[in-house]
Amino acid sequence: MTIEAELAGKVPALDAVAVPALSIVVPTFNEVANVPLLVDKIRAVFPDQNWEIVFVDDDSTDGTEQVLHGLCRKYPFIRSLRRIGRRGLSSAVVEGILSTSAPFVAVMDGDLQHDERLLPAMLAELQSDKADLVVGSRYLQGGSTGEWDASRVRMSRIATYLSGLITDAQCTDPMSGFFMIRRTTFDGAVRQLSGQGFKILLDIMASSPTPPRLKELPYTFGIREHGESKLNSVIALEYINLILDKLVGRWIPVRFIMFSLVGGLGVFVHMSVLTVLHFLGEPFVYSQSLATVAAMTFNFFLNNILTYRDKRLKGTWPILKGLLSFFAVCSFGAIANVGIANVLFQRSFTWWLSAIAGIFVGVVWNFAATSIFIWKRR
Ligand code: GDD
Ligand code: MN
Repeated sequence: MTIEAELAGKVPALDAVAVPALSIVVPTFNEVANVPLLVDKIRAVFPDQNWEIVFVDDDSTDGTEQVLHGLCRKYPFIRSLRRIGRRGLSSAVVEGILSTSAPFVAVMDGDLQHDERLLPAMLAELQSDKADLVVGSRYLQGGSTGEWDASRVRMSRIATYLSGLITDAQCTDPMSGFFMIRRTTFDGAVRQLSGQGFKILLDIMASSPTPPRLKELPYTFGIREHGESKLNSVIALEYINLILDKLVGRWIPVRFIMFSLVGGLGVFVHMSVLTVLHFLGEPFVYSQSLATVAAMTFNFFLNNILTYRDKRLKGTWPILKGLLSFFAVCSFGAIANVGIANVLFQRSFTWWLSAIAGIFVGVVWNFAATSIFIWKRR
């Protein structure tokens, strides 16, 4: 049954309203020169007006928002959604899709690197009910990554390989940011989405309860003429986050894993500082104290950059306050750690098991307390 048929009777009929069959969702961040060109290009491939574009802009600083508003005033089939204090391609796309009701949704970049001429063929695949998801692929025969340098190609290959950990979909280009999907298919996955980082297509495939019927169409990734790419090392980290979240997120929060890994590195810093001071002939208590402070400071900054990057503390005072609070929280954690371990040890648990239990309680305390008191929800 089509969505229209399903809704018939539930929604009062309106006269002569052209409901768009297709919503094209475009995430933008600083794409001022590209958006008007993109609109022209899409108008050229779809001369009949049965579609809309929803731009989701994360408060660009280059005037994209003003240009989008100009376009919205000119064309009723263009809308713009602005998010403040937020970043993220995937979450922008999800919220853009949720703001529409068309039965088919396309997702494409706003920088003209995705070939809009593919859109009619994608739509035809969905309309003829041969597929639920049509992906623009750079790796299919006839497609290509265009003028990418070797390191970017290699990164994309590694990322594609890793994606196999979380989805069985036989997709040649799960990293693609260019695809069209049936709304019902998206709705089936939306509650399970991780929404992190850049890879919304992979997220959807890994979150669908049943594998969507997939169709791929080749295209060549265009050259960016205006503005610059937002892909950086943080995005790579967010990709690892997405993979971990889909693998184990059901049982352990990825943030906790990250926090524990940072703690592990802290042990390494501690031992290094301690070793150096020890061989310089410093007294043990002094060396151990300095090593502890060094490790805590290291952990604080690394957590600020990695674990809590979305809530990062900025500016001298917030950072200083955060650092001192971090010392306080970790001191309680250390007391809990030693206390629990000692109690267990006295109840004749093995020494290393007692220690591990103590460490575990300490880490959980530190994680919980830092996320409540230091890196608060925004
Ligand atoms: N709203 C929002 N928020 N949009 C963003 C953000 C953000 O934080 N970061 C990037 N964008 C927008 C850009 O403005 C652009 O329209 C689109 O997302 C893609 O960003 P680029 O920075 O140009 O990414 P890329 O070209 O390196 O990679 C793209 O293409 C690859 C191949 O399809 C992305 O779509 C990748 O996910 C994809 O693998
Ligand atoms: Mn791009």
